[in-house]
Amino acid sequence: MKDVAGKVAFITGGASGLGLAMAQSFSAAGMKVVIADIEDAALEAAAASFAESNAEVITVKADVTDRDSMEEARAQTLDAFGKVHVLCNNAGVVVYGSVAEMTAKDWDWVMKVNLDGVINGAVTFLDDLRSHGEGGHIVNTASIAGHYGIPGLGVYCTSKFAVVGMSESMRLDLSADNIGVSVLCPGVVETGIGNSERNRPSEFGGPAERDPDSQTDTGVEMEVMQPSVIGDIVLHAIQNDQFYILTHREFEPAVQQRIEEIHHAFAYWANYREANNV
Ligand SMILES: NC(=O)c1ccc[n+]([C@@H]2O[C@H](COP(=O)([O-])OP(=O)(O)OC[C@H]3O[C@@H](n4cnc5c(N)ncnc54)[C@H](O)[C@@H]3O)[C@@H](O)[C@H]2O)c1
Repeated sequence: MKDVAGKVAFITGGASGLGLAMAQSFSAAGMKVVIADIEDAALEAAAASFAESNAEVITVKADVTDRDSMEEARAQTLDAFGKVHVLCNNAGVVVYGSVAEMTAKDWDWVMKVNLDGVINGAVTFLDDLRSHGEGGHIVNTASIAGHYGIPGLGVYCTSKFAVVGMSESMRLDLSADNIGVSVLCPGVVETGIGNSERNRPSEFGGPAERDPDSQTDTGVEMEVMQPSVIGDIVLHAIQNDQFYILTHREFEPAVQQRIEEIHHAFAYWANYREANNV
């Protein structure tokens, strides 16, 4: 979607971190933006940060795990701007720790936000993106954790692998409708993600004390990026129809190692079948 000026973007988890950076980059490019988020204080701060410019930005309270709430946010979006062209399924949370320590509520919460949230975004907005015939774009925020298994991040990796897989299929399904798809897969960016528990509802166990030493070891020396860089990168990906947004090159060897292991496994089992005549 080369020509983004005047187009409408809906961003989940838009009041903080990467989502807010996307809102800033999109707005600077002349887009109309809906910032959707679950956190009241962050929504207020985001609204205030755009108040002095003439930017066409609105904030709406929406919980991506709740389809009624998303439907309500959709109604507010259409009331304000009439159409939706760009959907950023970006809200996400993390729980650190070995899968051996994860409770059912840890699994449920992370999968609900990170996977069901993306599904709910698509279910809520796909018809709107397709119906106006002006083309559109979906950006699903996954992570580099959607490309190789990382110890201490099993629940998060599970959710992000799913988002990568969903995005790969979506891209093929939606190209006929002139809807591009991108999957955003960053490494470390300086945001509030490490303090995700602040938004954990009581039905999923409520906010847990975070052990500052429990963060995961990716086995890679990592660059910490600023969100604004990612906001501009996402805008570029939309304008240039780039599918994989892989921003942190230090992870390439780890991903390559996974690809090679898969390649060797194909050969191993082909040899096995030949040797055993099965
Ligand atoms: N920061 C990183 O290093 C990094 C790396 C890779 C991927 N990501 C992904 O980027 C996305 C954005 O996270 P971030 O890093 O900007 O963190 P963040 O905590 O700064 O922002 C996430 C936003 O999502 C909102 N949110 C949480 N639960 C929600 C719900 N149920 N409904 C609606 N909104 C909800 C939060 O209120 C917050 O504003 C996430 O999907 C995250 O997994 C982040």
